[in-house]
Amino acid sequence: MSRLVVVSNRLPSGSTPSGGLVVALQDALADGGLWVGNSNKLTDTPADRLTRHEGGKFTRMSFDLTEEEQRDFYLGYSNSVLWPLCHDRVDLMELLPQYLESYRAVNKRIAKMIARELQPGDRIWVQDYHFLSLGHELRQLGVTQPIGFFLHIPFPGPNAFAALSHGQEVCRWIAAFDLFGLQARRDVSACLQVFRTAKGAELLLNGRMKLEDKIVQVASFPIAIDPEEFARTARNAPTAGLDDAAATIIGVDRLDYSKGLPQRFRAYGHLLDAHPELSGQVALLQIAPPTREAVKAYQDIRDELEQLSGHINGAHATLDWTPIRYIHRSVPRERLAGLYRGARVGLVTPLADGMNLVAKEYVAAQDADDPGVLILSKFAGAAEQLFNGALIVNPHDIAEMAEAMNQALNMPLGERRERHQSMRRVLLDKDVAWWREQFLTALSASWQSSQPQMDPA
Ligand code: ADP
Ligand code: G6P
Repeated sequence: MSRLVVVSNRLPSGSTPSGGLVVALQDALADGGLWVGNSNKLTDTPADRLTRHEGGKFTRMSFDLTEEEQRDFYLGYSNSVLWPLCHDRVDLMELLPQYLESYRAVNKRIAKMIARELQPGDRIWVQDYHFLSLGHELRQLGVTQPIGFFLHIPFPGPNAFAALSHGQEVCRWIAAFDLFGLQARRDVSACLQVFRTAKGAELLLNGRMKLEDKIVQVASFPIAIDPEEFARTARNAPTAGLDDAAATIIGVDRLDYSKGLPQRFRAYGHLLDAHPELSGQVALLQIAPPTREAVKAYQDIRDELEQLSGHINGAHATLDWTPIRYIHRSVPRERLAGLYRGARVGLVTPLADGMNLVAKEYVAAQDADDPGVLILSKFAGAAEQLFNGALIVNPHDIAEMAEAMNQALNMPLGERRERHQSMRRVLLDKDVAWWREQFLTALSASWQSSQPQMDPA
């Protein structure tokens, strides 16, 4: 079996991971291999070798960033250019030249360090938007092994993409991979449309794209969870923390502007205004650990939510009832599973989201005999898979979301069971092992087809 080398910005550690990427890959790489990622330590002088960490089921190796790289590569190009671009917030993009320069330089440096560790027969699987140019850099160094890439966030449409003045270069980065994996069909279609606008690009059959002398396969692989394991965790988990007197509506998201939290809070306020009979009968538990706090857009969203929750609680709270509980902390996985299970409604209403694993975890955690209801934004990649069972909403439409909450709270048991069963089937059918296998099989096929054919003579 050839070795799998995974590269991602977050390297799994012993502490509770709160990003979907880490959660999914930890499950997917449990059977061996090498994982390269950020040490999360800043350095004055960048090393030219990766640091090896002992322990665990697979080898972990890390690189350090300098303070400047953390600012320009991570907070800058990754999270102030690519993240807003891919989440339909071009207005929040900060296109500074030093961000792009640092992104190129960090990817080049990491490529050099990875290339020294590679063995013949390795397969390299690059994760997410921090490393879009890594495949290109590895190829420049003469690496010939299969290199696949998976984008965990949405792919931008051609209009948004045009806001990148160096779009042609980004297309060249993409074309350097053997396989470019995306979450949803809508992302594949956006990517093909973007490529159509690249100079000298050709769209071939079956999702293959050619730019200069490089051919890349583009396809969707909706990321998943291990539903059985998550259900077990939820069954054995404590539910303490839920309001016993009221039906809980739960939201669990990083405190990110893409998650639609202000709209969600407003919709809940609207629900309470429109249905005074719900006073004391319902509670919104929103768990939202802060992230990327050095970026201004993240500080702004935090301030806005504090004001909004204060306002709604001020308007509706009684002496013995708090309508919104808003918690800024990471919660251990077991605890989270128990909270999902005890909540009558799961509220997953991002304005833009690659997949959204919380939606899948909420479904997996439910008691099949008496399940809760998932309210899901049509802009989450998960909506392509869960549209039959979830209440699909437009997160910009506050009244529609409030009505969906009311419908969920009053949904008869039979309908809840039916909807839950249909979603559970999807989760069981397409779990995280399926995701990994689909991707790796497609990577081998795509790499094989790019190898020079042996002359039969
Ligand atoms: P994103 O990748 O944008 O953060 P996802 O919904 O795809 O969004 O993945 C989030 C992951 O992080 C889920 O596995 C979820 O359980 C976990 N998570 C989110 N918030 C918390 C929290 N407060 N405490 C612990 N885990 C969290
Ligand atoms: C999303 C991204 C991941 C990222 C995670 C947490 O899931 O797709 O690549 O690791 O958010 O964000 P952070 O910036 O804290 O790593």
